Amino acid sequence: MSTTSVSPQALAINGGSPVRASLLPYGRQSVDEADIQAVVEVLRSDWLTTGPKVGEFEEAFAARVGATHAVSFSSGTAALHAAAFAAGLKAGDEAITTPMTFAATANCVLYQSAIPVFADISGDTLNLDPEQIAKSISPKTRAILPVDYAGHPADLTPIMEIAQGHGLIVIEDACHALGAEYGGRRVGSIADMTVFSFHPVKHITTGEGGMVATNNAQFAETLRRFRNHGISSDARQRQSAGQWHYEMVLLGFNYRLPDIVCALGIQQLKRLDANLRRRREIAEQYTAAFREVPGVVLPAVRPGAIPAWHLYPIRLDLEKLTADRAQVFRALRAENIGVSVHYIPVHLHPYYRDRFGFRAGDFPVAEDAYARLISLPMFHGMSDQDVSDVVEAVKKVVGSYGK
Ligand SMILES: Cc1ncc(COP(=O)(O)O)c(C=O)c1O
Repeated sequence: MSTTSVSPQALAINGGSPVRASLLPYGRQSVDEADIQAVVEVLRSDWLTTGPKVGEFEEAFAARVGATHAVSFSSGTAALHAAAFAAGLKAGDEAITTPMTFAATANCVLYQSAIPVFADISGDTLNLDPEQIAKSISPKTRAILPVDYAGHPADLTPIMEIAQGHGLIVIEDACHALGAEYGGRRVGSIADMTVFSFHPVKHITTGEGGMVATNNAQFAETLRRFRNHGISSDARQRQSAGQWHYEMVLLGFNYRLPDIVCALGIQQLKRLDANLRRRREIAEQYTAAFREVPGVVLPAVRPGAIPAWHLYPIRLDLEKLTADRAQVFRALRAENIGVSVHYIPVHLHPYYRDRFGFRAGDFPVAEDAYARLISLPMFHGMSDQDVSDVVEAVKKVVGSYGK
């Protein structure tokens, strides 16, 4: 008899058997036959890039998020850049945002040669703390860019009040929050401009793609021009001057989202409600399973908020554990659970440190959260077995590192 056999409860990282045979990713798209047919139909049509599907997708999207206008872009990042432009950000201006986000939120401010000013976050939702925003306002502040972290809407009532009091524009980065609601209102209908992403890990996908929703016709027109080289697309003007005539009126980019993938977006949007339902179901299952697990802190949900659950980020109560986040992360990966971390605070990236002199300790709430965060797999295509594998692995790993 072998004396070196490993107990079935041993962690996979220590030579035990993993909970799953193959890796479960943290996020993943769902594409069905109707999606494929819709794309093939466009491929057989006359229009591959800007054709009828662009307007159709934009109209359906605007209606879904409760906005008057929706303007599509080639990515969420391009959409953020366009919103920063439409807000009038320019050299010397400041825009307040959160360090707990993907770098693109702050980068769009830099694209306009303006300065991103970080404000620390609230300890429960990890969204921008309105008190910290208020403290960060200077005579140069022009905009606030809250992020709906993990799909939980930012604290929009106080943020809109602060903005109105100081004449600031609010660009809400809702790349995590398509379908979320705040105080009975839909995300997309509240801020001056709201930005969405259709990256494959999001609630609906076009491969790459993004959208800005707004109720402001002037912003919508600027956004449309900016994504098309700055060309004015006034049809009447073209008619009166001849069909060949167009005018470039501002310096824009080619940020267009092609018909091929707008057709995909139209189909995907039809399943948004089902996708949201499934994500909320998974969140409820996780919450029920981890509520009593020492060492695990659950994501907060504030009264009046209905999150869209792009991510399910747990925080480790490190004081109750013998391992740090890196060790727990590696152990979960060894169990074939594709965990991730959202986010390394933006101010700690070398580019931001070198350019602006940020240091560890500048935003203590965000930094403390970062040391504890682990994003568990969360996507609408997860099966019940996938969910129970995650639950089993988290209990196994966190349990084995309990004090
Ligand atoms: C908060 C946030 N903002 C912006 C983006 C950029 O979106 P995209 O990848 O579509 O350019 C992302 C993408 O993941 C994001 O999570």
